[in-house]
Amino acid sequence: MDMTDNATWAGADERGRGAKVWDLGIRLFHWSLVLLVSVAVVSGLLGWPSLFDVHLIVGTAIAVLVVYRLVWGFTGSTYARFASFISSPLATLRHLREVVSGTAPTHTGHNPAGAAMIVGLLLALVVLVVSGAVVLGGIFKEGPLASFAGYATGRAAKEMHELVSYAVIGLVALHVLGTLFESRRTGVDLVRSMIHGRKSSHKAGQNASQHDDTSSVERGARPLLATGLIAVILVSLGALVVHASRLPVPGVRNAPLPDLYVSECKACHAVHSPSIAPAATWHAIIAGLDDHFGENASLDPAVAAELARYLRQNSAEHWDTKAANRFTAASEIAPLRITATEGWRRLHRTVSDSDFTRRSVGGRLNCTACHSDAEQGRFAPRNINIPEETTP
Ligand code: HEC
Ligand code: HEC
Repeated sequence: MDMTDNATWAGADERGRGAKVWDLGIRLFHWSLVLLVSVAVVSGLLGWPSLFDVHLIVGTAIAVLVVYRLVWGFTGSTYARFASFISSPLATLRHLREVVSGTAPTHTGHNPAGAAMIVGLLLALVVLVVSGAVVLGGIFKEGPLASFAGYATGRAAKEMHELVSYAVIGLVALHVLGTLFESRRTGVDLVRSMIHGRKSSHKAGQNASQHDDTSSVERGARPLLATGLIAVILVSLGALVVHASRLPVPGVRNAPLPDLYVSECKACHAVHSPSIAPAATWHAIIAGLDDHFGENASLDPAVAAELARYLRQNSAEHWDTKAANRFTAASEIAPLRITATEGWRRLHRTVSDSDFTRRSVGGRLNCTACHSDAEQGRFAPRNINIPEETTP
């Protein structure tokens, strides 16, 4: 396959296979995007923690593809170029009216409705990539925006991310319907033409005289220029992302748990990051250590005072992680229990009772059994793993 073949539809080749319309660059872009968007939508809708990284990788790949398409829109062959198909909203409406009245001409490249779809989809993908990065930074404290976006911003971006992803599903559905409709209307199998790049009509009389294409100038693809531009853009963006990802992230507790806390509290269960409960909860726990869930865990008063100070200074109110934000309200039924809070229960509604009671887990309060980064208070989806049951 060659990327520079620019025969017009009118100039169908000798074997009558129809003219080359979609260059290899466009076809690769199109089908890679179909694959990546499908994986992104499925992994996003399922929302399984195990698919979190898949979603991130696919989202990043979509960002790369969008950059590629934007560049190709100026360096690809005739029908890949934005100048050949982007038309005004009025022209698009006129086209739709003509379609309804049966007078719409056939277009060699994209018709105005298809062009509007491309612009809409590309815009939506840009919004998805950017809002996804804000969610990643604000809620999960990762990626290039972690030091800029707070949790509240991340939540707002999540709403937008979800809304726009539904819009994309809708646009894709419309695009598929539009393509099938247009294939019937013009007699050109548009799905196949996006595979082999050629357009030919089986409808009699469907020839060049009927086609109305604004792009009279034939343009050759410039793959070398495109590769150079894409490389420069990706390397610059990549450097920016790497640099930004290394900036200090506010709102995340990075210090290890102090020895005093670990030695006094780790005897019976996993220690919890102080960032996952409000100061009031910690205060009540320290005040009631002599009857701590039926156990006597009392401490020397000086030690207790020091622990109380540490916990108060590092309670959920002081941090901006997802856990710190979700566990700020103490439970009304069991004020000392983090696992009885509304926030905790919500986050674990998909986890069954038997997963918590496994011997390998040892109960709901042993966060570290399933969250390898629990002591840092991070609870990143990729660090969630419910251990296999152990034999007694
Ligand atoms: C003598 C053993 C023992 C020691 C020492 C101990 N705990 Fe506990 N802790 C328990 C028991 C038992 C429970 C209740 C477990 C259950 O019902 O699942 C509990 C529950 C908790 C919970 C509630 C967890 C939930 O369900 O949300 C917190 C928080 C907690 N402990 C904090 C501490 C802190 C802080 C210290 C150190 C000052 C500490 N514990 C020391 C035995 C202990
Ligand atoms: C039996 C294993 C298990 C234990 C024990 C456990 N969790 Fe989880 N936790 C999970 C699973 C699984 C998920 C993901 C649920 C989902 O989204 O489907 C999760 C999700 C979370 C999340 C949200 C992560 C995210 O970003 O989506 C937080 C925060 C969290 N847990 C905190 C805790 C805390 C705090 C404790 C201890 C008091 C705890 N968990 C104990 C299994 C466990």
